[in-house]
Amino acid sequence: MRVQTNRLFSKPAGLLHGGDYNPEQWLDRPDILEEDIRLMKQAHVNEATLGVFAWSVEEPSEGVFHFDWLKEIMDRLYENGIYTILATPTGARPVWLDKKYPEAMRVNSAGERNLHGLRHNHCMSAPAFRARVKMIDTQLAQALGNHPGLLMWHISNELGGECYCPLCRARFQQYLRGRFGGDISALNHAWWTTFWSHQFSDFDEIDPPMKNGEGSIGGLNLAWKEFTSWNMTDFLKTEIDTLRAVTPHIPVTTNFMKLYNGLDYRVLHRPLDVVSWDSYPRFGNNEEPLADTFAENAFDHAVMRSFKKDRPFLLMESAPGLVNWHPYNALKRPGIHSLAGLQAVACGADSVLYFQWRKGRGSFEQYHGAVVDHLGTGDTRVFKEVEAMGSQLQALAPVAGSLSHNRVALLFDWPNRWAIADMAGLSREKKQYERTCLLQHRSLLRMGVDCDILSMQDDLTPYKLVVAPMLYLLELGASENLTRYVQQGGNLVAGYLAGYVNEDTLCWLGGFPGDGLSDLFGVISEEIDTLYPGKTNAAIFEGGTRFAIQDFAELLRLKGAQVLAKYEQDYCQNTPAVTVHTVGTGNAYYVAARLEQAGMEHLYRRCLAEAGIPVQSLPHGVEFHCRYTEKERFAFYLNESENPATIADVFGTDMLTGQVLDGTLRLAPLQAAVLRQAR
Ligand code: GAL
Repeated sequence: MRVQTNRLFSKPAGLLHGGDYNPEQWLDRPDILEEDIRLMKQAHVNEATLGVFAWSVEEPSEGVFHFDWLKEIMDRLYENGIYTILATPTGARPVWLDKKYPEAMRVNSAGERNLHGLRHNHCMSAPAFRARVKMIDTQLAQALGNHPGLLMWHISNELGGECYCPLCRARFQQYLRGRFGGDISALNHAWWTTFWSHQFSDFDEIDPPMKNGEGSIGGLNLAWKEFTSWNMTDFLKTEIDTLRAVTPHIPVTTNFMKLYNGLDYRVLHRPLDVVSWDSYPRFGNNEEPLADTFAENAFDHAVMRSFKKDRPFLLMESAPGLVNWHPYNALKRPGIHSLAGLQAVACGADSVLYFQWRKGRGSFEQYHGAVVDHLGTGDTRVFKEVEAMGSQLQALAPVAGSLSHNRVALLFDWPNRWAIADMAGLSREKKQYERTCLLQHRSLLRMGVDCDILSMQDDLTPYKLVVAPMLYLLELGASENLTRYVQQGGNLVAGYLAGYVNEDTLCWLGGFPGDGLSDLFGVISEEIDTLYPGKTNAAIFEGGTRFAIQDFAELLRLKGAQVLAKYEQDYCQNTPAVTVHTVGTGNAYYVAARLEQAGMEHLYRRCLAEAGIPVQSLPHGVEFHCRYTEKERFAFYLNESENPATIADVFGTDMLTGQVLDGTLRLAPLQAAVLRQAR
């Protein structure tokens, strides 16, 4: 196994600590700007994200550019060892722009054009807006692209949303022309438009799925989402290309939002040099144990890490205190901040960055937490926790550039997610694709097994076990990819709802899972039952072990697979519920029903044993992750429970405390340890 390290930056040394800083809101208070530098140093900050939403200050009227203030701030920060991630300001538009170029303002799905205001709501297609973006980006890059403190470009902010304006509609039609080779009958066939007499005779007739328009064609709904991702990526690329033309040496990122449903991040991440994202978990909510909130965050981190596995990602934003947009804006309890920051690093981030450095006095985010509160001092509870986090990150400096190396992968794809949500069938409320993936990841994590989150089209050969929940839509080449993987010795776990439709949402004929996957799994799924809430069945494994089933259960026909568990009751009693099929040197497991998680864990233990991957017995609520360099491994143990935890067989030096462990690690509630170990 060869694991390369990949430092994102040569300077500053170690991990980044800092976040969004908006000095443009304080230009009339030089005393505060000066105090910010002093406080940043106190908090061990080495990075500031500047310029997010600063367009109206950078270009107060068309063609008039002001960057001196920004240069001055970057200079002052740099003199004090603080580097800049510089944003293009395109996340929000100045009013003059919208007044002069109204096509920059988005049109919603009811066909109404926005008025000026808010943010993140531009049209991605409008040439006039793209031209203004190109201009401000060029000016910004020319003014500051050579600044020695500039680390990276941050494109816009949290790209998202859809635009239904006439320009986007025309682009959508053009996109479809390209996709179907200009052949409208190919589109009609792929979208099954003879149903309800919906055939198109020309691409010009196709509208996006408007609120009061066409919503019944699965292929159209999916194509619109894919188009929006394509168009947003195209917009992103124009910003990237503009910056690269001036500063080819400066890497670019844009900040993602968790598992944002509106854009396929697998497409959007491609033109980026570095993946970054904004994490705002609802820690301490009243619906789930704290460790489950952490586990969900770990899943999100794994998604981000897995986009570019050859380099670390960045945690671009997190709340140093509370946020202002959760249903209940609870304070982060003492200790949570540090544990969440360490979790990000454990999962592969080379930064802990915040939104925001200093709380503004007015407008929408005046009550959003910040490192520096309205009080303005460096002795608040939040500030002290941030300062302590800064010291911890300094102690973890050698971790920078190290990489995760996992042998288990979970497949999670946006088109599949969209198609499942859009299909008319099963039970809308119980489909829960995202949650199902999350639960598989959590189960594996609780066994001490970290996983990467991949696409069904990715190279699976480095993995010993691949879990593919609810693999409903098969993208082009997916079934060949999975078959090759198993033939060459992989272990694949899939199950109910696998292989129902192709990339246009047309059902496969000849038995599910389609496109050859019924040969791989050695089963045909003949029917799928949706169980009313409260109705259950069970799967009985060899030896009588029994696990409950809820929500969905398929009726299987065997086509060569061996039965591992049978249904306990009902019309399907004693028919196969879980099967395995050996193909080549690998195994394809099929779980025909939604098993309780303990049942999935029972199966995963068997698969992991077969794959030679050790399972750890971790106390409940303890999360384990590893990062590697050529010679070392950094083992992170995070106690996310409210109880002390004792973990056996842990050796090495805890980088956070300096303690040398001789086999027993004791963690207080919310405490973490990072063991530096030779490989
Ligand atoms: C993020 C956004 C920031 C800020 C923050 C508040 O989604 O990028 O600009 O609004 O939320 O939590």
